[in-house]
Amino acid sequence: MVASTLFKRRQNAFVAFFFAVSFISTASGLSESGKRPRIRATFPRPAENETLPYRDVSLCIDDRVEDLLQRMTLEEKAGQLFHTQLQMGPNGTLDLGNATAQRNSTDNMIGEKHMTHFNLVGNVDDVRMNAEWYNLVQERALRTRLGIPITLSSDPRHAFTENIGTGFAANEFSQWPESLGLAAMRDPDMVQTFANIAREEYMAIGIRSALHPQIDLSTEPRWARIGNTMGEDANLTSQLVVAYLKGFHGEEFGTHSVSTVTKHFPGGGPMENGEDSHFTYGKNQTYPGKNFEYHLIPFKAAIAAGARQMLPYYSRPIGTEYEEVGFAFNKGIVTNLLRKELGFKGIVVSDWGLITDTYIRGQYMPARAWGVEYLTELQRAARILEAGVDQFGGEQRPELIVELVNTGVVAEKRLDVSVRLLLREKFTLGLFDNPFVDVEAAEQVVGNPYFVRLGQEAQRKAYTLLKNQDDLLPLKDAGNLKFYVEGFNISYLEARNLHVVDTPEEADLALIRLQAPYEPRPGGFEAAYHAGSLAYNATEKARQAAIYKAVPTIVDVYLDRPAVIPEIAESAVALLGSFGSSPEAFLDVVFGTDGAHPLGKLPFDLPRSMEAVEASFEDLPFDTKDPVFRFGDGLRFSQNC
Ligand SMILES: *[C@@H]1O[C@H](CO)[C@@H](O)[C@H](O)[C@H]1NC(C)=O
Ligand SMILES: *[C@@H]1O[C@H](CO)[C@@H](O)[C@H](O)[C@H]1NC(C)=O
Ligand SMILES: *[C@@H]1O[C@H](CO)[C@@H](O)[C@H](O)[C@H]1NC(C)=O
Ligand SMILES: *[C@@H]1O[C@H](CO)[C@@H](O)[C@H](O)[C@H]1NC(C)=O
Ligand SMILES: *[C@@H]1O[C@H](CO)[C@@H](O)[C@H](O)[C@H]1NC(C)=O
Ligand SMILES: *[C@@H]1O[C@H](CO)[C@@H](O)[C@H](O)[C@H]1NC(C)=O
Ligand SMILES: *[C@@H]1O[C@H](CO)[C@@H](O)[C@H](O)[C@H]1NC(C)=O
Ligand SMILES: *[C@@H]1O[C@H](CO)[C@@H](O)[C@H](O)[C@H]1NC(C)=O
Repeated sequence: MVASTLFKRRQNAFVAFFFAVSFISTASGLSESGKRPRIRATFPRPAENETLPYRDVSLCIDDRVEDLLQRMTLEEKAGQLFHTQLQMGPNGTLDLGNATAQRNSTDNMIGEKHMTHFNLVGNVDDVRMNAEWYNLVQERALRTRLGIPITLSSDPRHAFTENIGTGFAANEFSQWPESLGLAAMRDPDMVQTFANIAREEYMAIGIRSALHPQIDLSTEPRWARIGNTMGEDANLTSQLVVAYLKGFHGEEFGTHSVSTVTKHFPGGGPMENGEDSHFTYGKNQTYPGKNFEYHLIPFKAAIAAGARQMLPYYSRPIGTEYEEVGFAFNKGIVTNLLRKELGFKGIVVSDWGLITDTYIRGQYMPARAWGVEYLTELQRAARILEAGVDQFGGEQRPELIVELVNTGVVAEKRLDVSVRLLLREKFTLGLFDNPFVDVEAAEQVVGNPYFVRLGQEAQRKAYTLLKNQDDLLPLKDAGNLKFYVEGFNISYLEARNLHVVDTPEEADLALIRLQAPYEPRPGGFEAAYHAGSLAYNATEKARQAAIYKAVPTIVDVYLDRPAVIPEIAESAVALLGSFGSSPEAFLDVVFGTDGAHPLGKLPFDLPRSMEAVEASFEDLPFDTKDPVFRFGDGLRFSQNC
């Protein structure tokens, strides 16, 4: 991992000179833009506080944790137990909050609620501004009584998904296929390279905790969250998650690591009727095939590989030996299974929003307290702690915890157990000792040409060739052909000096990029989840059929879910599956540009029909009848030189 080592060394150097730089730059006044916030020159805390044992780098981490813990008030401990969304204010300022959107200000959450764990919400489209903003947030945190630094986390942001609840598009970061595409490549080294690079880019702007990997097994093809899994096979997912964690953690977990939150324990794949448990109608997870154990296999691999944090899903299990309550409320799942049976020693953070009703993108979202809806907010908080969870995701209600302790429902010692784990992670990441990022370095690291090129290569390699009639691909002598195009801008073909026409009838060949079928759902938030039928409706099938009839067609389907497309397999002259790719990557593969060729193998079966999907069991892999394509399918270009 030459590149990664190189960047590590550079960051070491940057860390060393950064303190000097940050202090000087403040003295010298404004930045060149003259507008952006600067880091304060001095810590407002009195100098004598700097010599407290927990600040002493030479002490061992356990001693620093204990020293800090015994200085903390109940309120300060309660604040550590919450981890919620944080967004940047206009022009890199601290967000002032929005009462209508039930969003508290950054200052309020850090200063009054004593919170220090946040997940970054929103796209990164100005690296410098994001890095400066991160330093500003950190500076605010260091101005609190104890100066506990914040830990910034993030959902995936290196691919194409754009859904405030699951991930952000890459923008300034290097852009890779979704994790399904990483799985399609069947290459643990590639996964580790990806994770190494994502780590460097995260760290550059202060993200020190990844709210991933997502290692649910896609045994129920309709589930709306398959796109960010590694597919249907427990062995493959187990193999890849090890490489994934290695990349984010580095050689040894420490000051150059990004912590990881493995999810969704104990495997979110077996969703009843393929619905998702963000929503009331999708709260059930079922095991009609008695296959609970299969879904644990990747989690066991992750634990053996040093998984740091674990996130139980929203769902509640139906018809198992466990209570029918959401996994984070479930002591049998968190304490007995995860901690005792599987021996997990790290942090358990709940999924977002289990206590408080809220609005997401203008849509009313009741707390996902599945199976315990009848409990009050206070009781829900107590129940989650009792289950063995350390931290509440997507909530900012430390006052509930203070009340639980003050009324004797929860012992302060119980909080200490979780706060210890959470503080140890911060110390281990080196956040107390090096809380800031180097803004100049961030600009050099994030989206640098080398990382971008590797991401683009991965987009091409992940392409999965499912049909290639008469070895049509890669296309040769395309200069003489007339193309009909759908699903991407014709300017990409024109830039290659190719001839585009307006109708299939005029064309020699059609190039069509399709989104895998789904049924649109209402609501500002829900609409981002691709759920329901995996087949195109009759209107869309007829529309496509007319094209296939008029002209030989090359089809690229974006498989964020296992599409039911026997008609395309039948009628297209070539069929490609993709898992997050740019139009350029698509065209490079079609034309074999610079030797580009698809190397992907399907990470799941593509079912024959919706009847076959409905008849299959939610928890069993590879059990739809007579699938059109199988896990592992993927052709190669023939070698006719
Ligand atoms: C920091 O110093 C101030 C002033 O001496 C003191 O009041 C405060 O309690 C100190 N903080 C800690 C954590 O000891
Ligand atoms: C952000 O900066 C731009 C350019 O300097 C300025 O025009 C705009 O008014 C600023 N917006 C806010 C909300 O401060
Ligand atoms: C506050 O949030 C509401 C609801 O999302 C939104 O309509 C409004 O524009 C926001 N106000 C500001 C000042 O951003
Ligand atoms: C923050 O949240 C509390 C409720 O926990 C609310 O009472 C308060 O008004 C909010 N303050 C700000 C500044 O957003
Ligand atoms: C998974 O791996 C185990 C052990 O390596 C092996 O026995 C089993 O056959 C594999 N299963 C599949 C579906 O590849
Ligand atoms: C979930 O399972 C329970 C128990 O079998 C059942 O009563 C309920 O209708 C199912 N579906 C939903 C959405 O709750
Ligand atoms: C297609 O690309 C051209 C050239 O980049 C651009 O001007 C045009 O707006 C694009 N069209 C669409 C529909 O995005
Ligand atoms: C059929 O599917 C197309 C494309 O997915 C969609 O635009 C259309 O609204 C759907 N029609 C019906 C009747 O559902």
